[in-house]
Amino acid sequence: MKKLLIVLILLVLAGAAFAGWIVFGPGPLDFTGGSPVALADYKGPDPSGVPASLKTASPVARGEYLARAADCEACHTVKGGASFAGGLAFKLPFGTLYAPNITPDRETGIGNWSDADFLNAVHKGIARDGTRLYPAFPYAAYTMMSDADALAIKAFLFSLPAVHAPTPPNTFAFPFNQRWLMVFWSAFFNADHRFMPHPDRSPEWNRGAYLAEAMAHCGDCHTPRNLMQALDNRRKFAGAVASGWKAYDITQDKESGIGGWGDDSLAAFLATGHAQGYGTASGPMGEAVDKSLMHLVPQDIKALVAYLRTVPAVSDPALPAPKTAPAPASHREGVAVADARGKAIFAGACAGCHGWTGQSPVLTYATFTGGRAVNDPGARNVAQAIVWGVTREGANGPVVMPAFGQAYSDVEIAAVANYVTARFGAAPSSLTARQVAQIRQQAAQ
Ligand code: HEC
Ligand code: HEC
Ligand code: HEC
Repeated sequence: MKKLLIVLILLVLAGAAFAGWIVFGPGPLDFTGGSPVALADYKGPDPSGVPASLKTASPVARGEYLARAADCEACHTVKGGASFAGGLAFKLPFGTLYAPNITPDRETGIGNWSDADFLNAVHKGIARDGTRLYPAFPYAAYTMMSDADALAIKAFLFSLPAVHAPTPPNTFAFPFNQRWLMVFWSAFFNADHRFMPHPDRSPEWNRGAYLAEAMAHCGDCHTPRNLMQALDNRRKFAGAVASGWKAYDITQDKESGIGGWGDDSLAAFLATGHAQGYGTASGPMGEAVDKSLMHLVPQDIKALVAYLRTVPAVSDPALPAPKTAPAPASHREGVAVADARGKAIFAGACAGCHGWTGQSPVLTYATFTGGRAVNDPGARNVAQAIVWGVTREGANGPVVMPAFGQAYSDVEIAAVANYVTARFGAAPSSLTARQVAQIRQQAAQ
C-alpha cells in the first residue's frame, strides 16, 4: 500500500514538474543570455574567492569571509545559542525541520566529514551517510560555489570549537519524511554545476552575480517559488514571503522594485540596513545585513549593485510607488482612519521613536519615510515589526525596537499597523485581527 502511494506521488510530482517547470523554467542566470564559460576557461579576473585584500590571508580567514558572504550562520544558529550548532526550526506546512549542527563535533556535528562529503552536501544536497537533504538548505544556490570556496568555508568551520548538540529529528509526516524523494527534486531543480562567468559582461558584474547567486542566495527569499518549492526564475527577484515577512520586489521595476533607487542608496541599504529615503531592513533582511552583507568589503557591495541593475523589471501589482514626503509634523494633521485606537497607540508607544513625521528624532534607523514596509498596503512587515520588535547589530552598534506582541491584542496591533501605513505610506492597509493572529502563529517558530 505504502509503495503504491509512493509510486503515485512520484508520478504526480514528476508529471507536474516536467510539464510546468523542467521544460520551461529558466535558471537563475538565464536572463543574462550570452555564452557563459567554465570558470577555468574564463580570461577575466576570478569572480569567485575573497577580495584582493584577503588573497594572502590564511585559509581560515578566507573561509570566514566566504561563510559570511553565504550567511551559513543565519540558519545554523538558534537565537542565543552557540554559532553553527544548529537547532533552528523551520516550520513548514507538513512539519518542522531543524537545521543541523555544523560545528566540528565528531558525534553530533560534521567533525568526521571529508572534503568530498562536504562538497556533496553543499553542491548536491547529499549528507555524509548518503541521505538526501531538503532544499530548505539552499544547495540549489550553493551548487554554484567553487570547490575552493566551499572548502575554505569547511576549513573555517573546522577551526571553531566543537559543540556537542544533537539535531532534533524532523517531524515530517509520510510521505514528506521520505528523504529519498529529494532525488527527484534535485534532478529537476538543482542544476549541480559551478558558477559560469559571462565574458561579455564586466568583471564587476561577474563578481556581483557570483556573490548574489552562489553565496548570498538573495533569490531564496526574494524569488517566488513554484508548486515544488523551487525558485520560479521567470519572476526572478519579484518578491516572495520569507519566514512570514515579505521580501520585496528587488527587480529594476521603478514602482514596486528598486529601479528608482540611486546606486549609493542601494549600496548603503545593503551595507548598513538603512538608506535615507528608503527605510530600514528589519526581520530576515536585517539579519542578512547584520550577519552577512555588513561584513563585505565596499567593492563587493558595489559588485552586487552592478549585478542587481541588470535583473529585468517585474512588477508586483500589490505595491504602489512609495510616498517619499514626510508626514505632517503635527499629529492633528494627516490622515483620519476608521479605528481611532491606532492613533492613540501610536501616540503613546511609537511616536517617541518614530516621530509624527516618520523621521525619527532619535535614531536614523527608525526613520521610515520612503521605506517599503510602511508603503506596503499588505502591512505584513509593519505587523511583524510591531509583534516581534526588531533587534539588530546595526552598522554603528545595536538597534532595538521593543516587541509589542504581549502588550497589545490582535485588534490593537491591526489598528496601529493600519494607522502607520495610512499616515506614512502611499496607500492605507486594512489589516485584520485575524491576519495579525496568523502572523503571530507563523513566526512562533
Ligand atoms: C536558509 C537556511 C540555510 C542556510 C543559509 C544554510 N543552511 Fe545548511 N542546512 C539548512 C537546513 C534546514 C539543513 C537540514 C536539511 C535536512 O535536514 O534535510 C541544512 C543542512 C546542512 C548540512 C548537512 C549536515 C548534516 O548533518 O547532514 C551541511 C553540511 C550544511 N547545511 C552546511 C551549510 C553551509 C556550509 C552553509 C553556508 C554555505 C549553509 N549550510 C547555509 C539550512 C541552511
Ligand atoms: C533571509 C531572507 C532574505 C535574503 C537572503 C535576502 N533578503 Fe532582501 N529582504 C528580505 C526581506 C524580508 C525584506 C523586507 C525587509 C523589511 O521590510 O524590513 C528585504 C528587503 C530588501 C531590500 C529593500 C527593498 C525595498 O523595496 O525596500 C533590498 C534592496 C534587498 N532586500 C536586497 C537583497 C539582496 C541584494 C540580497 C542578496 C544579497 C537579499 N536582499 C537577500 C529578505 C531577504
Ligand atoms: C525604542 C524606539 C522604538 C519604539 C518605541 C518603536 N519603534 Fe519601531 N522601530 C525602531 C527602530 C530602531 C526601527 C528600525 C529597526 C531596524 O534597524 O530594522 C524600527 C522599525 C519599525 C518599522 C519598520 C519595519 C520595516 O520593515 O521597515 C515599523 C513599521 C515600526 N518600527 C513601527 C513601530 C510601531 C507601530 C511602534 C509602536 C507600537 C514602534 N515602531 C515603536 C524603534 C522603535
